[in-house]
Amino acid sequence: MLRRTGGPHVLELTDVADPVPEAGEVVVRVEAIGVNYAEVLSRKGLYGWAPARPYVPGMEAVGIVEEVGSGVDPDRLGARVLCGVQYGAYADRVVLPASRALPSFDDFSVEENAAFGVNFMTAWVALVEMARLRSTDRVGITAAAGGVGTAAVQIAAAFGCPIVAMAGDDGKLARVRELAEVTTVNYRSPDFSGRLDAAAPEGLDVVLEVVGGEVYRACLARLAPFGRLVVAGYAGLDYTLWNPLSWWRAWRDAPRMRTMDAAVASVGVLATHIGYLLPDEERLLGVWSKLTAFTREHGLRPVVGGVYDFADLPEAHRFMESRASVGKLVVRTA
Ligand SMILES: NC(=O)c1ccc[n+]([C@@H]2O[C@H](COP(=O)([O-])OP(=O)(O)OC[C@H]3O[C@@H](n4cnc5c(N)ncnc54)[C@H](OP(=O)(O)O)[C@@H]3O)[C@@H](O)[C@H]2O)c1
Repeated sequence: MLRRTGGPHVLELTDVADPVPEAGEVVVRVEAIGVNYAEVLSRKGLYGWAPARPYVPGMEAVGIVEEVGSGVDPDRLGARVLCGVQYGAYADRVVLPASRALPSFDDFSVEENAAFGVNFMTAWVALVEMARLRSTDRVGITAAAGGVGTAAVQIAAAFGCPIVAMAGDDGKLARVRELAEVTTVNYRSPDFSGRLDAAAPEGLDVVLEVVGGEVYRACLARLAPFGRLVVAGYAGLDYTLWNPLSWWRAWRDAPRMRTMDAAVASVGVLATHIGYLLPDEERLLGVWSKLTAFTREHGLRPVVGGVYDFADLPEAHRFMESRASVGKLVVRTA
């Protein structure tokens, strides 16, 4: 439960009433939860797509259908499903529309299933639906060792694209090189933008950008004509109410682009947030079916970078915030 904003300690383990399914809904007994950077931001009070507190955070989980509401096929009872929700997944029971409880992957572990949905969907929507990725595109990916990043690297590699993977740590970049053939650039090293120029001398055609600030600006400057940069996050932005300097930094580092400058460079800046797609079920399920078919065809697998007990969920937040995590952090409820 999240009653107030603050550090990981504000995540409170508490008893709440079991959810009851309404018509068209299912209740899922959660086996594992996927932790997202967006939940770190929500906990800090920096996330727009969060409900009013108090609420149970958590956007994705995998578990077993335990109850069905009226109008839902009872044959669904006992099935393992992936659940994507705005909030409520940091729990041992979650309720959601039956149509959004999606079949799990039989050949993935429970943890891998918990790690798949948000990260792969975000990477796919950004690269394929928005940037219209082609095999000849030179692709840049920021926070490439993270949950979204490792998904994006695998998707772009399966398309056959040359990839420049960027992250803030050499050890993390070494882990990305185990996933696919990539050129790597550490954006916390001196002369990041010179190193990016050297890694992509003819520019980048597509960039998936989730950091903001100098990383965003350097990637934008490296876009080749007809290039598309998709903003899907700004993990580097932080501010606190009591520190006006931090507001100014957040303003300075927010990704922006003037249309006239885009025209001169013949590039496009796009942005996406998959949360807002949740009510558009038809579009969402269409994209999901293309993504899951592609995942199976190319044998992609989410990278699980750590598994925590439910009681240690604040530790998973702490680790993610430390920037040391690789891939997806998963929390087991049992
Ligand atoms: N648009 C959408 O629908 C959508 C959906 C899911 C996620 N996202 C966004 O995608 C990004 C990645 O999400 P994720 O859940 O996969 O997390 P993640 O990449 O596993 O973890 C966040 C990463 O962000 C990087 N980072 C850069 N500056 C940071 C800072 N000041 N503090 C902390 N981390 C910083 C770190 O990697 P380095 O140290 O390598 O820089 C860190 O490991 C986030 O910005 C998230 O908000 C967007």
